[in-house]
Amino acid sequence: MAEHETHRYDVIVIGAGGAGLRAAIEAKARGLSTALVCKSLLGKAHTVMAEGGVAAAMGNVYPEDNWQVHFRDTMRGGKYLNSWRMAQLHAQEAPDRVYELEAWGALFDRTSDGRITQRDFGGHRYARLAHVGDRTGLELIRTLQQKAVSSDIDVFMECKILRLLHDDSGTVSGAVGYWRPSGEAVVFEAKAVVLATGSIGRCYTYTSNSWESTGDGHAMALWAGADVIEMECVQFHPTGMVWPLSVRGLLVTEGVRGDGGALKNSEGRRFMFDYIPEMFREETADTEEEADAWYEDHANNRRTPDLLPRDEVARAINSEVKAGRGSPHGGVFLDIASRRSPEYIRRRLPSMYHQFMELAGVDITAEAMEVGPTCHYMMGGVRVDPESQAATVPGLFAAGEVAGGMHGANRLGGNSLSDLLVFGRRAGAGASDFAEGRDQPPSADPSQVDAVLADALAPFGRDGGENPYDIHHDLQSTMQSLVGIIRTGSELEEALDKLGELRERTAKMSVAGGRAYNPAWNLATDLPSMLTVSTAITQGALARKESRGGHTRDDFPAPDPELGKLNFVQRQTSERGDGAPIHIGPEPLSEMPAELRELLEEGH
Ligand code: FUM
Repeated sequence: MAEHETHRYDVIVIGAGGAGLRAAIEAKARGLSTALVCKSLLGKAHTVMAEGGVAAAMGNVYPEDNWQVHFRDTMRGGKYLNSWRMAQLHAQEAPDRVYELEAWGALFDRTSDGRITQRDFGGHRYARLAHVGDRTGLELIRTLQQKAVSSDIDVFMECKILRLLHDDSGTVSGAVGYWRPSGEAVVFEAKAVVLATGSIGRCYTYTSNSWESTGDGHAMALWAGADVIEMECVQFHPTGMVWPLSVRGLLVTEGVRGDGGALKNSEGRRFMFDYIPEMFREETADTEEEADAWYEDHANNRRTPDLLPRDEVARAINSEVKAGRGSPHGGVFLDIASRRSPEYIRRRLPSMYHQFMELAGVDITAEAMEVGPTCHYMMGGVRVDPESQAATVPGLFAAGEVAGGMHGANRLGGNSLSDLLVFGRRAGAGASDFAEGRDQPPSADPSQVDAVLADALAPFGRDGGENPYDIHHDLQSTMQSLVGIIRTGSELEEALDKLGELRERTAKMSVAGGRAYNPAWNLATDLPSMLTVSTAITQGALARKESRGGHTRDDFPAPDPELGKLNFVQRQTSERGDGAPIHIGPEPLSEMPAELRELLEEGH
């Protein structure tokens, strides 16, 4: 067997963003030996890119808010493709998770009478986002990290997990990976594994995600035989930076619009008034005066169209740019300078102020920003049981962005931070229960470990092959241009062919140098995940012949009510995964109980 060190735990959690931290805290609190394994340094996770706040119906600003309204908003935002049970649990439990975070030390902004204040965000009927300026994700990570470290959870940093391991019965029993600093192999044996690996953004050219988001968890779940759902549903956040090119895609928080910022085209028009969909017309202002009045006083409940759900806003920006009414660098303008005082902007949006000043030389208290859509979030992911977050293979659990179902076809801003708190905790509990019921500590099968390591090391043994950077570049441009915001059947077919070619090129790539801190090799080991995930996204997009939420088909521009009752489920049964065909098929959504259906119908 290849040389490696081995660690044994009851529960291992792969990924140390908000969901992973919360899952590990829960498992440890239940008395299980728990390890948290992360690809980069603890505290560096995409969670920090949920800047504007955590959504929870606490009713601190609008007492009429409650979980039922939050549930309804979430389902409508997701175009009803959501797991209703996840959306219900999320809406019911989010306030407790925010208060828990506060008890653990998070310093939220306050109302004048000292309660946690809440801001407006797209698709939420009431101001509902508890926040810390525009650094909420950072505060969340900081607080959870402190709690995890003080709970004595074992943390393994800079460890890339390559593959899940399973026992003879197919139950997940651990994972194999390598240390990025040394390149040496490591095996974790565990009674239960929680995936909390986050997103897939690095499959696209323009993304708010940093280098870690390569879809490892999505791919490893598929390779382990688990189901994934709704992979076609990728969220393009409407506002990323478009200039300078070196930072294109970097997030511009929705909090800018939540605090009064308005989108404008090159003619100075607030174009969002031209893009109000029927579904939201009654509750959306149709004049600037009405929209501005809403910001000051929500009594009329006709929200500004700048705060329509993200899928609507991203498509509108795309259309304006295509029609030649974009900004000089291919976006549109986001103006808060003419609407709020410099003092207000610097206090409420300190990171945005610094980000534009430092990176673009733009003073957002005096000028408009240039913004455009950026790949931000993956709604699709591992199919889980809503109560326990158990995947469809035993021993495996998933929480946060790697799990599917909660957000349907489109996620509302702010629902990701509450999602990872609610379902991170549930995954930690589910994994603990499973581990407690497993008497034999699993031991890694040497042949599985050897096979995974041989695959990972193969590029060192090839001479004269392509380097992984070129392949990654071509993968990103394929996904960006053919499987982006607007999709068509012929382009998706073309993308599948190109992904096949990229797979062949990957099998021949070579890497020079040693294993220690070798970024080319690290990327080479990320490519199989990105190829698997990109294939699943493209297959899902081809299968869903309609437009719904984040998935827009130019050749099927309307939603199809029949397809709105179905998930597309993907599964790969071949033992050693990557490269094997992924089966895709429709399955009906589970029946929603009458009392919840009424909430949607009544517009509660
Ligand atoms: O715009 C934002 O601050 C992002 C928030 C989110 O993705 O939830």
